[in-house]
Amino acid sequence: MSHLDNIPSTPGKFKMDKSPYIHRLRWHSSLTKLTFWSLVILGSILIFFFRSPSSSPLPSDHSRRSLSTYDWGGPSWEKRVRSSARVRSRNGISVLVTGAAGFVGTHVSVALKRRGDGVLGLDNFNNYYDQSLKRARQALLERTGVFVVEGDINDSALLKKLFEVVPFTHVMHLAAQAGVRYAMENPSSYVHSNIAGLVNLLEVCKSANPQPSIVWASSSSVYGLNTKVPFSEKDRTDQPASLYAATKKAGEEIAHTYNHIYGLSLTGLRFFTVYGPWGRPDMAYFFFTRDILKGKSIPIFEGADHGTVARDFTYIDDIVKGCLAALDTAEKSTGSGGKKKGPAQLRVFNLGNTSPVPVSDLVSILEKLLKVKAKRNIMKLPRNGDVQFTHANISLAQRELGYKPTTDLQTGLKKFVRWYLNYYSQGKKAAG
Ligand SMILES: *[C@@H]1O[C@H](CO)[C@@H](O)[C@H](O)[C@H]1NC(C)=O
Ligand SMILES: *[C@@H]1O[C@H](CO)[C@@H](O)[C@H](O)[C@H]1NC(C)=O
Repeated sequence: MSHLDNIPSTPGKFKMDKSPYIHRLRWHSSLTKLTFWSLVILGSILIFFFRSPSSSPLPSDHSRRSLSTYDWGGPSWEKRVRSSARVRSRNGISVLVTGAAGFVGTHVSVALKRRGDGVLGLDNFNNYYDQSLKRARQALLERTGVFVVEGDINDSALLKKLFEVVPFTHVMHLAAQAGVRYAMENPSSYVHSNIAGLVNLLEVCKSANPQPSIVWASSSSVYGLNTKVPFSEKDRTDQPASLYAATKKAGEEIAHTYNHIYGLSLTGLRFFTVYGPWGRPDMAYFFFTRDILKGKSIPIFEGADHGTVARDFTYIDDIVKGCLAALDTAEKSTGSGGKKKGPAQLRVFNLGNTSPVPVSDLVSILEKLLKVKAKRNIMKLPRNGDVQFTHANISLAQRELGYKPTTDLQTGLKKFVRWYLNYYSQGKKAAG
């Protein structure tokens, strides 16, 4: 049974009494604070107009992550941060989870919190996909006792502040610009999150005292055009097929550098097509479900010479177990205050399911579960980033992390479809 099965999965069922808006209301009820903040806001507006007389105050589609739009700080904010990160079990760890309102971030945060670890979330709630889904995940997290700070990983003042308030023992870094095809539309968002954001995070971590141990999400896409299957960690990763893959590969090299120079303990996890309840609407299994139900035709790609396109679909609960095992087996960083004291742990693991399934089989399973026949539109796999085949060799993760996936695609999709139908029947609007 999924660890989130007993949580209401529809936005309508969430009590709104923990909403940040109500907190703000209480905050504002104090007259002195109100006056103070009014002055601060007025000041910020004046500064804004004096400094950027020509630029529009409305963020454009692609520069929506203007850091000034996040508001953080203040005594009540710090109190929430501290309380969320408080460890409640013996030998528990305190973890900063970036991308906490994301698919994997939400599941990992809940799992950590449930076993008594301290968890603080961080998320910029960008509009790469349906923000209401991220808000619904946030509501779920708040019910579990996880506070999600709204901010950007490239904001060094914010990250420094978080480490001042909480001496995190671990960072679970899942924030990223995801998606393979979107990189052609908005390449700079990949640089912003996956490169600049990662470097900023590692800069703050290396200066923290104590330095945290870091586990972060790389991607199976680093194998790129590699044709040797199954993919194993030692295989070549120097032929990325998308900018997304290239930024993840760059992240692995950046991790090596920070491990080498500063003694940061770093573990990269190469996820293979993660799916499940609360998943990402930009993933095929998700929008296939939506479009099959709508009677819309769905594109099914095939490789050259009608070759099968297949994915090593990995169920979210298996991924969560792998993430927790990576945190639990992470050694301490060896440096402190920006100085290395000795060699530190540097690891990379495949987290897959080791059983690739053709995308056409995925569609057949969905048809049975939804009891609707799909309109299949067979198309040639475009050369814009997707690879034809992924298949993980997980023997390293098995040995070092005790990682052993147990959910096959049929079982996992059944749970996804149950969540999907429940979520979108109660939430007034259709997905996307
Ligand atoms: C990241 O933040 C720094 C300042 O902290 C800024 O100079 C830089 O432009 C940002 N990078 C991206 C790609 O957003
Ligand atoms: C999987 O990787 C391990 C090394 O981690 C290797 O010894 C083994 O031969 C690989 N298995 C296959 C089927 O390639």
